[in-house]
Amino acid sequence: MSQNLSTITSIEDLRVIAQKRVPRMFYDYADSGAWTESTYRANEDDFRRIKLRQRVAVDMEGRSLATTMAGQDAIMPVALAPTGLTGMQHANGEMLAARAAADFGVPFTLSTMSICSIEDVAQFTRRPFWFQLYVMRDREFIANLIDRAKAANCSALVLTLDLQILGQRHKDIKNGLSAPPKPTLRNLINLATKPRWCMGMLGTNRRSFGNIVGHAKNVTDLSSLSSWTAEQFDPRLSWADVEWIKQRWGGKLILKGILDAEDARLAADSGADALIVSNHGGRQLDGALSSISVLPSIVEAAGSRMEIWLDGGIRSGQDVLKAVALGARGTMIGRAFLYGLGAYGEAGVKRVLEILYKEMDVTMALCGRKNLSQVDRSILVPGTYPE
Ligand code: GLV
Repeated sequence: MSQNLSTITSIEDLRVIAQKRVPRMFYDYADSGAWTESTYRANEDDFRRIKLRQRVAVDMEGRSLATTMAGQDAIMPVALAPTGLTGMQHANGEMLAARAAADFGVPFTLSTMSICSIEDVAQFTRRPFWFQLYVMRDREFIANLIDRAKAANCSALVLTLDLQILGQRHKDIKNGLSAPPKPTLRNLINLATKPRWCMGMLGTNRRSFGNIVGHAKNVTDLSSLSSWTAEQFDPRLSWADVEWIKQRWGGKLILKGILDAEDARLAADSGADALIVSNHGGRQLDGALSSISVLPSIVEAAGSRMEIWLDGGIRSGQDVLKAVALGARGTMIGRAFLYGLGAYGEAGVKRVLEILYKEMDVTMALCGRKNLSQVDRSILVPGTYPE
């Protein structure tokens, strides 16, 4: 079913619609941060403080936003971030988002904590995608996940380092987050107001964690993300584990969750291809600095040895351009694409990518630049950006 979404002009438009269409516990799961949500807010606020230099009478014909991320072509420096429970924002969410990303020309990353499995996405899209790995106590299961990602021809492994224990997310606790939702009176009343979502879910059998169910041993309460991570994720994760994962995988490796220059140097020492400056969208350590504010220090520490990417707070193409100006080779979007998915499924994700592309292209032109090799700090107003 094709939809005319031309009057949807911003990511915020899609957020508002997603909030109406997605059951409350899943909307809140995507849209919240840890504790006071101060880091979640700082990610967006710190982008807003950075101002752009307008330039005029500069030839702006023949523009391109094209780049590569870890050697993979991207029509703009944006990839879809790994997000948990994406198939609960919309039925078959990971499959639809992966197809929208592939059709548009940007990479898609499938989370370990996805609803659709690696095999589901591989079969549905028949295009390369990236797989994100969480390290669990059961190393046999991890080795098996890596092998499954290889068998599915995943073209990069994104290893998340900042979630061995789950940040305290107050809304998830209050909502009793689980996948699928438990049939409590409160949930049933809320679901009754989301007929589209319910119809979608009735039409699929993908309603639990597809990478895990039927694959991991001793998994007791899989429905609850918090109890499952507490039992299964390995708090002893170290740089030595990064080494064996790198060996076992043997392909492009991207380390996600770096926020400190000292860790950035260790990440570069590990021989990984890229790191992602990230505070997990403000979902882990509340009180940590925003991603964009630490980006320059991380580029300085490790930028000559590996690609530096950023996620956290990107809600427009202008944010992407600002990150590139401060040294990011690429960016990742999480909530931004989830809003589109929750609002309109595959068409919504496509619309998100169109909006970001347009915003980035127009902004780059009005700053007097034609391609990303011309984008650096000189497009920013001195004194408004982090050094
Ligand atoms: C999982 O990645 C989460 O942030 O909930």
